Amino acid sequence: MEEINTQAKSPDFLKSKLALITGASSGIGLNLARLFAKKGYDLVLVARREGRLEKISDKLKKVYNIECKVIKADLSLAKGLKKLISVLEEQEVVIDLLVNCAGILCVDKAQNIELKNDISLMYTNLISPIELSKYCVRKWAEKERKGSIINISSMAAFCPHPYMATYSASKAGLYHYSLAMAAELRKQCIYILTACPGPTDTDLINKNDLSYPKAKVSEVAYDIIRAYEQKKKVVITNRLYKMLHFISSVIPKLRKIILIAYIMENRD
Ligand SMILES: NC(=O)c1ccc[n+]([C@@H]2O[C@H](COP(=O)([O-])OP(=O)(O)OC[C@H]3O[C@@H](n4cnc5c(N)ncnc54)[C@H](OP(=O)(O)O)[C@@H]3O)[C@@H](O)[C@H]2O)c1
Repeated sequence: MEEINTQAKSPDFLKSKLALITGASSGIGLNLARLFAKKGYDLVLVARREGRLEKISDKLKKVYNIECKVIKADLSLAKGLKKLISVLEEQEVVIDLLVNCAGILCVDKAQNIELKNDISLMYTNLISPIELSKYCVRKWAEKERKGSIINISSMAAFCPHPYMATYSASKAGLYHYSLAMAAELRKQCIYILTACPGPTDTDLINKNDLSYPKAKVSEVAYDIIRAYEQKKKVVITNRLYKMLHFISSVIPKLRKIILIAYIMENRD
């Protein structure tokens, strides 16, 4: 693996910021990588499909004249997470922005999902983002640096989703963790955005045959970056889903859960 030299640029004011994006090989993560590259961020792209990441990295370097490196890591496993952190340590990567975007979805009756798949989902969607957030926050504190985190939760965090029970539990977990950590760090120069996309046109949802209206992934990424620049604490992406969230707030939660069960049972 190529050395990541993120500390070589000087003087200080010429330094680009460095964003590490997990789940950058497709969907929302890939679109966030493009937008941050366009803004001049250097990037570290993380996912399992190394070949895809290398191609994306080559293109972003050429088009936006940035530094971009790739780390292959399986964040559904403790050893994958450990490997990622040890590469960051060995190569003394100094992260300014962590984007926890890697995620998986399992759609089935809760009782049908095998324990190993529930564990992989929880590790990818919740434990890895928690560990990476703690790693960055400790580093920033040690070095008295500023830093930011974007946690990609979901609108599924707001209400239990039948047939996506583990997924909605993982996203609710990340939503709560992210907001709690942000509040703890409010007096330090560490900013955390909790992003809650609604259904978006990506592999995650298309592979699972969900017939919700889907937002364009480029627009969702744009909404997230805009909220980040405006230093918002939480963002629900896409106007339609923002409106639905607002309207549905008058429906009692237990009714909403049954309504979601009905929609899931009657999807094409
Ligand atoms: N699409 C939606 O409707 C929607 C709505 C709300 C929230 N979200 C959230 O948005 C995030 C991005 O999802 P997406 O919609 O953009 O779907 P996607 O296109 O399937 O992207 C998922 C990304 O996560 C990576 N990933 C999955 N498992 C991983 C693992 N074990 N280790 C490392 N990386 C892994 C994938 O890369 P590799 O396969 O190369 O590892 C890929 O880059 C997820 O956290 C998802 O929950 C999506």
